[in-house]
Amino acid sequence: MADVSSRATVDATAQDPDWRQMQQLREQLHRYAHQYYVLDEPTVPDAEYDRLFQALQALETLHPEWLSPDSPTQRVGGRPLDQFEPVRHALPMLSIRTETDTQSSGAESFDARVRKELGLAPGDPAVEYVAEPKFDGLAINLRYENGVLVQAATRGDGETGEDVTQNIRTVGQIPLRIPVMQAKQDGASPAKRSDLTQNLASPPPVLEVRGEVFMRRDDFDALNARQRQRIVQGDKGEKTFVNPRNAAAGAVRQLDPRIAAERPLSFYAYGLGEVTPADQGGPEFLTHYALLQCLKAWGFPVTDRVEVVHGAAELVQYHMRLGASRDQLAFDIDGVVYKVNRLILQQQMGFVTREPRWAVAHKYPAQEQLTTVLGIDVQVGRTGKLTPVAKLAPVFVGGVTVTNATLHNEDEARRKDVRIGDTVIVRRAGDVIPEVVGVVLPPAVTPTEAPPERGPVFSMPANCPVCGSAAVREEGEADYRCTGGLFCSAQRKQAILHFAQRRAVEVDGLGDKLVDQLVDAGLVHTLADLYRIDDVALAALDRMAEKSAHNLRAALEQSKQTTLPRFIFGLGIRHVGEATAKALARHFGGLDALMSASEEALLQVADVGPIVARSICTFFAQPHNREVVEQLRASGVTWEEGAATSPAALPMAGKTFVLTGTFPTLSRDQAKDLLESAGAKVAGSVSKKTDYVVAGTEAGSKLTKAQDLGIAVIDEQAMLALLKVIPDGGS
Ligand code: IVH
Repeated sequence: MADVSSRATVDATAQDPDWRQMQQLREQLHRYAHQYYVLDEPTVPDAEYDRLFQALQALETLHPEWLSPDSPTQRVGGRPLDQFEPVRHALPMLSIRTETDTQSSGAESFDARVRKELGLAPGDPAVEYVAEPKFDGLAINLRYENGVLVQAATRGDGETGEDVTQNIRTVGQIPLRIPVMQAKQDGASPAKRSDLTQNLASPPPVLEVRGEVFMRRDDFDALNARQRQRIVQGDKGEKTFVNPRNAAAGAVRQLDPRIAAERPLSFYAYGLGEVTPADQGGPEFLTHYALLQCLKAWGFPVTDRVEVVHGAAELVQYHMRLGASRDQLAFDIDGVVYKVNRLILQQQMGFVTREPRWAVAHKYPAQEQLTTVLGIDVQVGRTGKLTPVAKLAPVFVGGVTVTNATLHNEDEARRKDVRIGDTVIVRRAGDVIPEVVGVVLPPAVTPTEAPPERGPVFSMPANCPVCGSAAVREEGEADYRCTGGLFCSAQRKQAILHFAQRRAVEVDGLGDKLVDQLVDAGLVHTLADLYRIDDVALAALDRMAEKSAHNLRAALEQSKQTTLPRFIFGLGIRHVGEATAKALARHFGGLDALMSASEEALLQVADVGPIVARSICTFFAQPHNREVVEQLRASGVTWEEGAATSPAALPMAGKTFVLTGTFPTLSRDQAKDLLESAGAKVAGSVSKKTDYVVAGTEAGSKLTKAQDLGIAVIDEQAMLALLKVIPDGGS
């Protein structure tokens, strides 16, 4: 450390050109790091930063006596610790009362309590609050003495935490030193500036900044991908993390700071701990908001989702607004925090036990819950794919009750090592299907004690659980498949449901319950049998009243009038989705031409590659499949056939469209059909390759993106004009 104990040394040192250069480099590097990590606006190329960094390292090697803990070179480096030292907090780290009511009444009851506490009458003005995200990470207290970070501590029990300074230094967003003030104060309005300026000159002798250390979702995904890679490469010591919070907590409490440095952490400041009092040269703030702005000006990251709001109604609006963008945020939140803005009112209100009366956490419905694995079933899909599915003790998560979650395939199930009887974390975010994110093992036992018994490791059965045919996993494939084909009743059921769905021939009312009954009762073996069920047998089915039997019959009758693309799609040929079915229908014009096409001929179709071509040939090479097609035709299933067209000849060939919003006359599917039958491609997202965006009412981010990229935006009418069609059903 710098020896600054005598005047003479100070003067001599200050004269030294190496010293001066070292100070200049440190100052420069701190500034660049702030621009890079906090402002997200790098001003110099990485290589330039590295060059200056190495120059500073060289000087510090030359003068080890001038090493200083706030030097940018000191972010990573310390030795592994045996344990963390306890830190007694100068001011206790409080917790926040949680409003478990996730509805608007959660905000309303907080506002009512505050008003009562402050003795406000119903006619008095609305209380001013600051609303902030409630970050899902770990609370940290950062202690600065004379502007230099001297200690970082976890919250612990609120009174005593742990000294995690070494690890926290590795967080690029956390200043190692608070710079003496720059003139520019981003974001502050002139009125607020006067409140700020008095505080900005230089940081107070003692300043504790409190905030949350967390891991961004993209950093978490990248970290887990890296961990997975290491596991594949045989590194037994590595594991993946179940969620960003656990990964962040693991990094902060990592005894080896070099490992912590590899785990990308972020930080947002949300408050203060001990600070030099105003009468001893400390800062004076009127509001929580001003305090946050000052922290920002001092170089601390403060989220831009912080807002000043008034009264219960605006709290509710904030809660809803942030909730709506929850899935788009770069980090996980589990709610919002409301704080009374004026610090004098905060003081007046005080605490109950460890919780301030002036703040509350207002939650969102949890996206993750713990539950127990009751079993692991293997389900059989339409194409014979076997999927392991975890059967769970019912749990309310992300707004629905979840009882099962896919484990995708054997490798995934093994990677997560989910076993019967395990406690697992189930996640359901937005509309995404529920998934098991990981197993929570019971707390570590002493090394001598045996770990608690768990169920056996999951493995795929050798035979299809439904029909008993062999299950095989082909080389290079992740999935096992039942080899039973349509002999397998599970595949038969799925094949029928696929054929009957809305986007195929559409048999209204033929759902999975009914299909189960039809197949199990032996009434339907092939698709063609659907049109041959007799009324007596149908009416004899469970719960099948005469009226529903009649309705089903009518729906079957109606489904006979279809289109060629729907029919091809409905056959359920592996790898032939709707778009391919349309392309095939357009290319060949009729079913017979398709059925007799060679692989070479199929490869001529736009978007058909070798795998798809092979799959189509294999399908029609099976006598059984040809027979089903003939029987369906014989039962009266018909469509119009046209002449074969070369896709290049179609008017919209080579054009890419993106649809967004609601159209006045067409449904999304109808618009898509029309465009595709004119040869256009309909894509799901806007990119530079998009030619037109067709926007209806309530168009979303696709419209904004189109405008940003300067892509032509048209409405339904303009689209129809482009296609020169009258809207009367493309399918
Ligand atoms: S303020 C007096 N603000 O929530 C209030 N806390 O139960 C002190 N948290 O452990 C905390 N986001 O880690 C505050 N915007 C925010 C927060 C926040 C998350 C966490 C914090 C603390 C817990 C309080």
